[in-house]
Amino acid sequence: MLNSKDLLGLRDVTPQEITQILDLAEDYKKQVKGGQKKFSRLSGKTLVTLFYENSTRTRTSFELAGKYLGAHEVNIAASSSSVQKGETLIDTGKTLQALQTDFIAIRHPMAGAPHLLAKTVKASVINGGDGMNEHPTQALLDMLTMRETFGSLSGLKVAILGDIKHSRVAKSNLFGLSKMGAQVWVYAPKTLIPAGFDALGAHIAHSREEAIEGANVVMGLRIQLERQSGGLFPSLSEYSQFYGVKDDMLKLAAPGAIIMHPGPVNRGIELTPSLIDGQSSRIEDQVTSGLCVRMAALTLLSEYREKNGL
Ligand code: CP
Repeated sequence: MLNSKDLLGLRDVTPQEITQILDLAEDYKKQVKGGQKKFSRLSGKTLVTLFYENSTRTRTSFELAGKYLGAHEVNIAASSSSVQKGETLIDTGKTLQALQTDFIAIRHPMAGAPHLLAKTVKASVINGGDGMNEHPTQALLDMLTMRETFGSLSGLKVAILGDIKHSRVAKSNLFGLSKMGAQVWVYAPKTLIPAGFDALGAHIAHSREEAIEGANVVMGLRIQLERQSGGLFPSLSEYSQFYGVKDDMLKLAAPGAIIMHPGPVNRGIELTPSLIDGQSSRIEDQVTSGLCVRMAALTLLSEYREKNGL
């Protein structure tokens, strides 16, 4: 059981809660990969996915997680909802509450939007990415894939290269991995490293080589062209040339190192196509982990709700 009604970020969760989610997700992953897609844990409950930004992986995996667990599942895309008529997030939350919704998975461009919604509704709110703040289930799925590969997160060196500044994935991974005893190294143009990231526990590398040397995990992050205010790096081709991870750099990493990326990937920019599609890549496995982490989070939140009479 988790310690709160909602899963809004990894900044405030305990290592025990992370372990609980990963253990259950690992169990679900074995069953799902074995063909089991019918569970009754959320039977009679309702999950709404409320997405104010585009998504393929997160939205689809929340939807499938709800369906596999036996919940009623509905998607609201803000682009085709009453949000377009000016409805506020709080009023949308009240509407979902009136419809007796039990779980809301939300993605929103504003940092803190899921927290505001969570205060408004009795439903359990899961943050599917809020602006440049957090994306907790992404970091949990990344940790599941790492833990399955290496047996433990403790002592791992995780190198994250790409757009750190705009990345909620980098922040949630930093919070989660640090709590689990891993070291997080980041490398990017200085303009794409947020101020104070080292104070949060990240090691700031001075070169790609320093970041990747001895790393167990090399994670590329997407250059978020839609969040750039302009002028943070000269061009995509120069970014790729000076900051992208190239094939021969994997030799610097620890033996058995893996390549990860949360997706969607700008092919040939953050990582070369041969790294994306190569034997060391875990990018597709991350997607399967995402389904199972979201099943686990919904299950554990459901236990919290039952124990607290919600
Ligand atoms: N990794 C991730 O959040 O992907 P989507 O934007 O496709 O959900």
